[in-house]
This record gives sequence, structure tokens and C-alpha cells, in this order.
Amino acid sequence: MKKQMIFATQNEGKLKEIRTILGELGLEIISMGEAGIQVPIEENGVTFEENAVIKAKAVAAQAQALVLADDSGLEVDYLNKEPGVYSARYAGEDTPYEIKNQMILDRLSGVEQEKRTARFVCAIAAALPDGRVLVTRETMEGYIGFAPAGENGFGYDPIFYLPEYNCSSAELDIQQKNELSHRGKALRAMKEELKKAGIE
Ligand code: IMP
Repeated sequence: MKKQMIFATQNEGKLKEIRTILGELGLEIISMGEAGIQVPIEENGVTFEENAVIKAKAVAAQAQALVLADDSGLEVDYLNKEPGVYSARYAGEDTPYEIKNQMILDRLSGVEQEKRTARFVCAIAAALPDGRVLVTRETMEGYIGFAPAGENGFGYDPIFYLPEYNCSSAELDIQQKNELSHRGKALRAMKEELKKAGIE
């Protein structure tokens, strides 16, 4: 029987991405729901790394298995790196992204391109059954565009402009996005860390 790894998310989209990238480790990757785990998690860290570790440890405390968790968000330099760890909660958790995105565009109104630098950040934490904790963090660098563009992706993708590709991250197809994205890169880095830790 394959060893199990629990990924601390309720998000099916993320789980699919993770299964694709970590598939070769030979572990069965299951969600918290599939593992029968329900823990209230307070994401009160001030960095992406802290939040990822908080989530991974909270779930690991309920399971005798390897647990992975992620935390991600958007940093806009001109806004002192807002919304940052509050990306999902920015302007209210239930506020549609059309509105959140427009609010960011409005706050950058009149700001020239060179000052619109931004990045998506993703931290992944792994809590190993022996108590060790591994963390990786990667970014996707770009600019805040001048208007929303594209239908793919989610969240802040329509306003995140990639100059090398001359499009927004909502205009990339899913495979391109996985290759370039903060989450794809952090997951691939975690795969290497897990291999180094002897988990395959
Ligand atoms: P969480 O990591 O699931 O807590 O999500 C953090 C939030 O960051 C998401 O709800 C989005 O608002 C934003 N975010 C993270 N990654 C991306 C991305 O790849 N595209 C667009 N928005 C993202």
C-alpha cells in the first residue's frame, strides 16, 4: 500500500495541481476531508511561511502522516506589499475579485509601469511524522496591469501582468501557469526537499 500524504486544503483545484507535480514521489496524496480531519486553523502568521507552517502543524497534530500545506498571495510594492498574507481577506473574504481587482487598480491610478512591480508568493510547509518541518518559498514576478485581462486562472490573475509574455497571468493556459507560477515552483522545490529528507 502506498504511503499517504495529506494536503491541508479544501481546494480541489490545488489538489489536482499538487497531484500532478508531486505524483512521482510515489505517495498517495489525499485532502483533509479524505483523511477525515477537520481542524479550525487560525492563519495568524505575518509571513506566508509562518501561515504554511501553522496549517501543516495543526493538521499533523491530528494525523500520523506527512502533511503539506501552502499559503500564497499577492504583494504590490507600491502598496507596501499589500494585500500580502491578507490576499484572500482583502476588502472582505466574500467580496468578488472583480471588485478587489478594481480596488487595486484604483489605488494605483496614475502610477507609471516601473512603479507597479508586484509578485505572487507561495510558501509550502511539510510537517514530517518525525517532527521535522521543511519550508520552501518561491515567487512569480510581474507588474500590476492597467486594466483586467483574461479569463483563465483565478483571484488576482487578471490584473497581474507578465512583461516577458506580454499578457496577464489570466491569459496563460494552465500548463504555462504551472511552469511559471509561484505555487508550481514552490511545489517542485518541495519535491526536491522531500527527496533529500528521504521521502520518496
Ligand atoms: P490561499 O493561499 O489559498 O490562502 O490563497 C491566497 C489568495 O492569494 C487567493 O485567494 C488569491 O486571492 C491570491 N492568489 C494566490 N495565488 C494566486 C494566483 O496564482 N493567482 C491569483 N491569485 C492568487
